[in-house]
Amino acid sequence: MQDVDQLGTALGGFSGRRVLVRSDLNVPLDHSGDTPVITDDGRVRASVPTIRQLSEAGAVVVVCAHLGRPKGVPEDKYSLAPVATRLSELLERDVTFVPQTVGADTEAAVAAASPGDVLLLENLRFNAGETSKDDGERGAFADELVRLADAFVSDGFGVVHRKQASVYDVARRLPHAVGGLVLREVEVLKRLTEDVERPYAVVLGGAKVSDKLAVIENLLGTADRILVGGGMVFTFLKAMGYEVGNSLLEEDQVETVKGYLATADERGVTIVLPSDIVAATAFAADAEHEVVQVDAIPADRIGLDIGPDAAATFSAELATCRTVFWNGPMGVFEMEPFSHGTRAVATSLAALDDLGALGVVGGGDTAAAVRALGFADDDFGHVSTGGGASLEYLEGKALPGLTVLED
Ligand code: 3PG
Repeated sequence: MQDVDQLGTALGGFSGRRVLVRSDLNVPLDHSGDTPVITDDGRVRASVPTIRQLSEAGAVVVVCAHLGRPKGVPEDKYSLAPVATRLSELLERDVTFVPQTVGADTEAAVAAASPGDVLLLENLRFNAGETSKDDGERGAFADELVRLADAFVSDGFGVVHRKQASVYDVARRLPHAVGGLVLREVEVLKRLTEDVERPYAVVLGGAKVSDKLAVIENLLGTADRILVGGGMVFTFLKAMGYEVGNSLLEEDQVETVKGYLATADERGVTIVLPSDIVAATAFAADAEHEVVQVDAIPADRIGLDIGPDAAATFSAELATCRTVFWNGPMGVFEMEPFSHGTRAVATSLAALDDLGALGVVGGGDTAAAVRALGFADDDFGHVSTGGGASLEYLEGKALPGLTVLED
C-alpha cells in the first residue's frame, strides 16, 4: 500500500495534478431549523489533514463523499452543501461546492480550478452506480469519476468495508494511495487484532445484538472480557433467565446469545453484564425512573441505562485492562437521566490513556456520543471514524476498500 508521499513521488509531484479524495463526511444533520446544522463535525475535522496536505502540495483536490442513504437520486436533505461550508471553515480556505457529482459541469469546474484549490462534489449516492451491486453499473459510474482526476487517495475509513464505486472501482482505475486517516485507523486496529496487549476488553452497546453477532463470535476467540450494555443487553439478560419488562428485546436472538454465554464459559472469556438497570415508565427524558436490580425489572418498565453499580463494576474491569475497544452507548445518552453509564465508560477509557494503555472509541455513533457528553478526541487513545468498518475489521473480514489499495 503506498501512502500519499509515495504517490506524490510516483507522480513527479502533486503540483497541478487533479487528485480525487474519497473522504467519509457522513455527519449527523439537524434539519429542524431554517438551515441544516451539523450536530457532530468529527468526521469533517478528521478529513482535513489529508485534504490540506494535498492542497498545500499544489494539487487540485477533488473531494467526494456520501451523506446518509439516498436511493440513487438527489434529495435535498442529503445534500453535502452544509458540509462544504464547514470544511471551508476548518481548512480556512474556500471550498467550491459542485452541485453535481459527475458530468460536464463538474468536469468544467475541475478544469477551471487552480493548483491548491479544493472542490467538494455533491453526494456520491445521488447516483445509482455508486452503490450498485452490478459491477458494470458501478464501473460505469467509476469511469465518470475517473475523468475528474489523475490520481486517487482513499481517506474515508468509515466506508472501506463497502464495495462501492468511489471506494473500490476508482482505486482499480487510477494510481492510488492510502490517506493518512485510513493509515492511522488501520495501525490502531492492528493493535486490537495482532499482538494484543492484555488484558483486552471489548465494551459493546447500542440497540441491537443482531448487528453485532459476527463480531461477538470473533471476539469470543480474542478478547479476555466482553462488557455488555445498551439496548442489546436485555437480550443477554433474557438469555440469563431474567424478565426485562418493556425493554428492547430481540426474542429471536435469545438462543444465539445463550450459545455465546456457553462458549464464553468454555473458553474462559468473562462476559460482564450489568447488575442493575435504570428503568423508566416511558422512553422520554422526563419519564419517571428508578434503579432496579436485573432480577427485579418491573413488567411495565423500560430499561434505558445501566445502573450505578454496573457502571462502577464496568469501570473497575476496564481500569485493569491494557487494551479496550468500545462500540455502542450504554444507554440513551441523549437524555441526561440515562447518560450516566455511557459517561462512566467514556471516563474509564480516557483514564486508560493516562496509564499508557490503549482505549479505542469505535465508530461514528459512539464517537458522537462521547463528544456530546463533553469529551474531546484527544482524551482517548484513538477515536475511530468508522463504526461498521471497525467492527468488520475486528470480525476478521477482508475489507474491499483496503485490499484494493494493496496492488
Ligand atoms: C458510516 O456512517 O458508518 C459510514 O459513513 C458508512 O455509511 P453506510 O453505512 O451508509 O455505508
